[in-house]
Amino acid sequence: MNEVSLQLDTRYVRDERLGDHGLTEEQIGQLTPRTAEILQEIATERKQGQHRFRDLPHEKPQLDEIKQIVEDYRDSTDNLIVLGIGGSALGNIAVQSALNPLTYNLLPNHQRRGPRLFVLDNVDPVYFEAVMQLVEDQWDRTLVNVISKSGETAETSAQFLIVRDRLIKALDEEEARKRFVVTTDASKGTMREIVDREGYRSLTVPEGVGGRFSVLSPVGLLSAAFCGIDLDTLLAGAAAMDEAVSNPDPQANPAATLAMIHHLYMQRSKRIHVMMPYSQQLRDMADWYRQIWAESLGKIRPADKVCVGPTPIKALGATDQHSQVQLYREGPNDKVFTFLEVNEFDCDTIIPMAFEGVEAMEYLGRSDEGTLGGLLSAEKRATELALLASQRPSLTIRFPQINERSVGEFIYLYESVIPIMGKLMAINPYDQPAVELGKLLTFHFMGRKGFEKSPMEG
Ligand code: PA5
Repeated sequence: MNEVSLQLDTRYVRDERLGDHGLTEEQIGQLTPRTAEILQEIATERKQGQHRFRDLPHEKPQLDEIKQIVEDYRDSTDNLIVLGIGGSALGNIAVQSALNPLTYNLLPNHQRRGPRLFVLDNVDPVYFEAVMQLVEDQWDRTLVNVISKSGETAETSAQFLIVRDRLIKALDEEEARKRFVVTTDASKGTMREIVDREGYRSLTVPEGVGGRFSVLSPVGLLSAAFCGIDLDTLLAGAAAMDEAVSNPDPQANPAATLAMIHHLYMQRSKRIHVMMPYSQQLRDMADWYRQIWAESLGKIRPADKVCVGPTPIKALGATDQHSQVQLYREGPNDKVFTFLEVNEFDCDTIIPMAFEGVEAMEYLGRSDEGTLGGLLSAEKRATELALLASQRPSLTIRFPQINERSVGEFIYLYESVIPIMGKLMAINPYDQPAVELGKLLTFHFMGRKGFEKSPMEG
């Protein structure tokens, strides 16, 4: 058995601790047979080619090609710019902030494990130009990874056009061409046509893997590999979690357990799901979670046309204790909290003892927990117990350390919760039909041919 390193602590959702707002043995027991059926359905469907994201850590599509691209460009690249949005960006950002120092881009070249990384996941012109300014004299040492599964996304296409133009002006057409790697569908979409026409180097978004499930594919792995992240260990973590979430017993399966808890609470009108890492490194992982939760689970249920879905919220410990916790304790009891906790930080900082006799200062250095990591952990325990005192349910995912292994496990765990939740909620978690209208209206406002008539006119 390939043991997983993450621990899931569910004690503060149980009625023994939470009273009326807790889940009883009976409630969990009643949902268990249906969840066991769902796990069986997923296992069968997987063999028939569905739930393709589940196979990524084993099939490792284009892993050698990714490593080769890094090899080919490492010596000539000081800046890597990723152009993408939504599922084509959030995973890259989350993996980078979890596994490289948050000050990574500020480090001098020799102290970084790879090029500076800029993931441009918006078309705000001020933000965009600020990054352009940073690389304007270094286009010959800048590589651009355009990521778009559909190859049709307006934001990514606009960024691509601008960056291509700047590259051609700074270098020449032939040299500019060599500074692109495009990650897109194998055969469909405008970006693939452009790749074929221009001869760009390219990677493929695996068939059947949606944007928000694609971080462990070439979509997320190229930038990670460039920045020194060990892909083999990341994928080994995901593969280990695959074993755990394939356990047919829902109560011994962490993905099924998470799905059952959230589903039961949604039925009890706790539809706001707060993920609160007590780790700055995991802050962007909560952003990634927000997308996979919202875009997958916020749907009109086909059977009765009821609008369903949880609202995911991102919070950060300890920062948001001084911003959100008042609401979390005394506001409506309509939330389920998930803490991400780290047992051992990569480094820790001792709080010095000073101001003898000034207790409000002295205790911080005197205590056994007298480090910043110790203080952060104490604050997590304090918040969890304070929420418990107000009968607010919380779960904890405990990372022994933040490393490739545990991050791979975490990503795979949260991806695997989604199809189980989808089946419990009787919705399709893999589509996003409600995103379409906004895209069509954007085409209309920007004057795209074929979209002259506003889609609002029917
Ligand atoms: O998860 C999703 O499917 C979306 O968030 C997409 O990733 C996002 O809309 C970008 O799409 P594309 O990769 O086709 O440019």
